[in-house]
Amino acid sequence: MKVTILYENHSGFKKGLIGGHGFSALIEGKGKRVLVDTGTDGRVLLNNMEALEIEPDSIDYLFITHGHYDHTGGLKALLETRSKPLKIIAHPGIFQRRIALKPNKREIGIPFTREELEELGAEFILKVEPFEFAKGFINSGEIERITWDRAVGYFPDGRRDPVRDDMALIIDLGDSTAVITGCGHSGVINIVRHAEKVSEKPVKVLIGGLHLIGASRHLLEDVARNVGAKLYAGHCTGIEAFAYLYCRLGRRIEAIHVGKMIEL
Ligand SMILES: [Fe+2]
Ligand SMILES: [Fe+2]
Repeated sequence: MKVTILYENHSGFKKGLIGGHGFSALIEGKGKRVLVDTGTDGRVLLNNMEALEIEPDSIDYLFITHGHYDHTGGLKALLETRSKPLKIIAHPGIFQRRIALKPNKREIGIPFTREELEELGAEFILKVEPFEFAKGFINSGEIERITWDRAVGYFPDGRRDPVRDDMALIIDLGDSTAVITGCGHSGVINIVRHAEKVSEKPVKVLIGGLHLIGASRHLLEDVARNVGAKLYAGHCTGIEAFAYLYCRLGRRIEAIHVGKMIEL
């Protein structure tokens, strides 16, 4: 199993790759290619795919971690480039309208309608329950929140958005799993515990945005003490949170960037 980061806030070292706010990663293994999220801007996603020699038509499934724009914004351009339909695994809540109030009021949901995406070849498989959509690739389903979460934003009527559509991709590694989270809105500890419950295997590796920007020392310490998995963290993890965890975990945490490859 191999993971390649295609979209991240940092471009890394390889020439021709572009960084940008958002997340996307390609997982290859067991004869399948699964794309997780699409970043914010389709031009950036397609540029990075081309630079890394990944054919848009070679993707078998797209897994959407949640409906925020920085994970779904590249979807339309991806569908337009392909010559065949694309199966998309996600939570039914991804099309919800949602807004942020700071630093200014703005839309932060998926910037497309379901209908326009279906016209371009999207075949949505929307479920809240965990299920294995391809051998070794498991949708976590809605993540149970036992302890703190990192939900952000509001619905248009002013209610807080719990980001219930936040789901993780669980990759079966045999004796253990690797878990990909887009933004970690359900909370790192909840994600790991939920994945272990669903798969009945320990989480060896956790990859993605951990949404610890602005997290208190108490929460960071909770992550350091209670998560045994190796962390590949980026996107919304936050540089201060990363620095704290690096001091606590050393090489058990690594930063991700566009073009980074992780062998599982
Ligand atoms: Fe995000
Ligand atoms: Fe998000």
